[in-house]
Amino acid sequence: MRESLELIRGEEQTEVSPGNKPRRAFIKSYGCQMNVYDSERMGDLLALEGYGVAESAETADLVLLNTCHIRERASEKVFSELGRLRTLKERRRVQGHEMLIGVAGCVAQAEGREIMRRQGAVDLVVGPQSYHRLPAMLRQARQNARPIDTEFPIEDKFAELPVASPQRIRQRGVSAFVTVQEGCDKFCTFCVVPYTRGAEFSRPVGQVVADVERLARAGVREVTLLGQNVNAYHGEDARGRTCSLGCLIERLAEIPGIARLRYTTSHPADMNDELIAAHRDVRALMPYLHLPIQSGSDPVLAAMNRKHGAAHYVDVIRRVRAARPDIALSSDFIVGFPGESEADFEATLALVRAVGYAGAFSFKYSRRPGTPGADRPDQIDEIVKEERLARLQGVLDEQRQAFNAATVGRIAHVLIDKRGRHPGQIAGRTPYLQAIHLDGPEELIGKIVPVEIVAAGPNSLSGRRVDQRLSAEECPT
Ligand code: 5AD
Ligand code: SF4
Repeated sequence: MRESLELIRGEEQTEVSPGNKPRRAFIKSYGCQMNVYDSERMGDLLALEGYGVAESAETADLVLLNTCHIRERASEKVFSELGRLRTLKERRRVQGHEMLIGVAGCVAQAEGREIMRRQGAVDLVVGPQSYHRLPAMLRQARQNARPIDTEFPIEDKFAELPVASPQRIRQRGVSAFVTVQEGCDKFCTFCVVPYTRGAEFSRPVGQVVADVERLARAGVREVTLLGQNVNAYHGEDARGRTCSLGCLIERLAEIPGIARLRYTTSHPADMNDELIAAHRDVRALMPYLHLPIQSGSDPVLAAMNRKHGAAHYVDVIRRVRAARPDIALSSDFIVGFPGESEADFEATLALVRAVGYAGAFSFKYSRRPGTPGADRPDQIDEIVKEERLARLQGVLDEQRQAFNAATVGRIAHVLIDKRGRHPGQIAGRTPYLQAIHLDGPEELIGKIVPVEIVAAGPNSLSGRRVDQRLSAEECPT
């Protein structure tokens, strides 16, 4: 495996465009946290190529859209944004300034050729497993070659990506994402991910450990491990043994400075004993689990090819709660999957009431070309989907507010991650990922401090610092 390139050189180096100004790139990310992570990696790569950061498309020499294909609306947004960028590109050309437009991510993977055909202003298209090749593609794009790369050589990508300098890591804050697993072999019948991100792949343990150690040395305190199917992780360790996600978490929790670990997104069929044990044994693993079920109805789960029923899910939750009694849960739900009856939908409502969620994401089923669900004749009427979504969200909102309200009066360990909205205010996250603001000095950024929760609003909490002599380690959970 090839050694990763060092990015530190890239910080000071600025390639100069024909107008004698340093080049600047604007990367706009859509969709999931993995896209945010990928955008950061592309930023690191472009820095090495001499690109500084542009605050907006208007001032950029390169605009990259890192796109999402998961639901119809997400893809539509890309085409309308490309229309706006085309006008901007024309305007700037008249002013004597060249601007390149690139499309990356899952829409690029799924519809690369179509994008090139429909939008003459696009200069390059790069899929999620090929973006380590961006530098060469940019050179081709400057010669009007309009390169497209949507190959799946995923091992090459992680081996060839540069590592960020401590300075860049610090700029991104005390909480970081690390992709440990990518792709999916499950083929849920509604989902495009297996087609856009390809087959399941786990990064080797040593590579992940090295990344997290580097982050920790630069001051990162919290790491969220990412994967489309993160708990299917099965990376190889130095001795050639397979390490599951539970094993990886145990290893990462030993890294000095790493106080908090999270992972997302997991599949109920892959919640193995080792991972559940990690929830019991690893204090750094936060007591908040995002475990999507999508539907509470067995026939719908079968039609979705989820590979488990509602009873299995409820049993997994029972075991996780036994291992970590203070754990809170969140999930994803889809309403209006083809064939979903009123009784099926009510089974989802019943499951939500039985489990009790601290948060959730819920969506109307969106027909994705190329997936088995899209071809089914029994599609559900849009009005019915909307009505079901409103009912489901009513129950989920109530649960979220009740969860937040129940934390008022308690002491939570808050990882302070930024300045607050007003001078003298700071903001952070509780173990349950609740946003919280409080009065305090900026020097606390990066520290975990005990905070009394004094009020719960619809989207965030407010708190007050309590005994400042207590460190997080000393403070009871
Ligand atoms: N329609 C609606 N929601 C979807 N999701 C994935 N595919 C679709 C689709 N075709 C949702 C699922 C998944 C989340 C990331 O997006 O709930 O867990
Ligand atoms: Fe999509 Fe299902 Fe794979 Fe999740 S498990 S990425 S929903 S196919």
